Amino acid sequence: MSSLKFKRVAKFVLVALALVSMPRVAQLQEKFEGDFWNSGEHFQTEGKVVPVAEDGIHDPTNDAVRVLQEPVEAMADFPRDNSGVIDWVKTLDEGLISPRASKLGDEEMHAVDFDVIFKNTQSMPYVRYPHKQHTEWLTCENCHPQIFLPQIGGNPVTMSAIMQGEYCGVCHGKVAFPPSKNCGRCHSVPRENPGLR
Ligand code: HEC
Ligand code: HEC
Ligand code: HEC
Repeated sequence: MSSLKFKRVAKFVLVALALVSMPRVAQLQEKFEGDFWNSGEHFQTEGKVVPVAEDGIHDPTNDAVRVLQEPVEAMADFPRDNSGVIDWVKTLDEGLISPRASKLGDEEMHAVDFDVIFKNTQSMPYVRYPHKQHTEWLTCENCHPQIFLPQIGGNPVTMSAIMQGEYCGVCHGKVAFPPSKNCGRCHSVPRENPGLR
């Protein structure tokens, strides 16, 4: 096939694909902008029941959605934090889940244990960022250098940037507990705390 002809065919396929997938994408976007995905409350808040077929993640027209265990049932006994959100750190510590570090389960996580204290918090208590609890789930490359330059004080983190999904908000409010709730899980260090660097 000449390259010109190939380009035309490729263009046609792309346009056809775009037309076919457009309604589905619009539908999904609508769901994502709905209350549970953006608020980070999917499957996490006490009393919240979102069936697999309606979660906006799984394909509701696929028969397999009916054989999957409902999250509300799977997570019924998981510990929750003060705001009623599942405490995944405790869930992991208590051995209620054992996520694989790799697809085949043949790798291990290499957690590091050091905290960073953020002190630019106005009248709120300081923020303790713990590397340990994060690197039990995440690799260094998940955060460094794209979300955070690995340098204490090297990133202009603010609360409004977090609320808009930057810095800590890349995950908190999406896959980790939302910044709109339980301020104290991050702002956990009393301001008068001698010996902090
Ligand atoms: C996911 C962790 C997290 C949660 C949850 C959180 N914060 Fe923050 N907050 C931060 C970080 C990090 C900073 C930046 C501190 C710095 O730069 O030294 C910050 C800064 C602030 C500041 C300083 C001013 C500013 O705009 O940056 C205020 C005020 C604040 N947070 C209030 C709150 C309140 C109120 C809540 C609960 C509704 C809350 N925070 C929940 C992490 C969090
Ligand atoms: C969930 C995000 C996240 C992950 C994952 C993460 N870090 Fe960090 N790291 C941070 C934050 C936040 C800071 C503080 C940045 C600031 O103060 O602006 C930091 C700071 C650092 C610093 C600077 C320390 C100093 O004294 O200046 C080093 C070094 C570092 N991280 C290494 C690592 C290594 C090694 C890993 C993997 C084992 C890792 N980090 C994983 C978020 C992360
Ligand atoms: C790359 C994703 C990611 C980023 C970025 C991130 N976190 Fe987290 N964080 C998580 C996950 C995942 C958990 C565990 C799940 C949960 O608790 O909801 C967690 C848990 C925590 C906890 C609970 C620790 C405990 O012992 O209970 C704190 C506190 C926290 N994060 C603070 C922060 C702060 C402050 C920032 C920004 C400076 C930040 N995180 C950035 C993913 C992230």
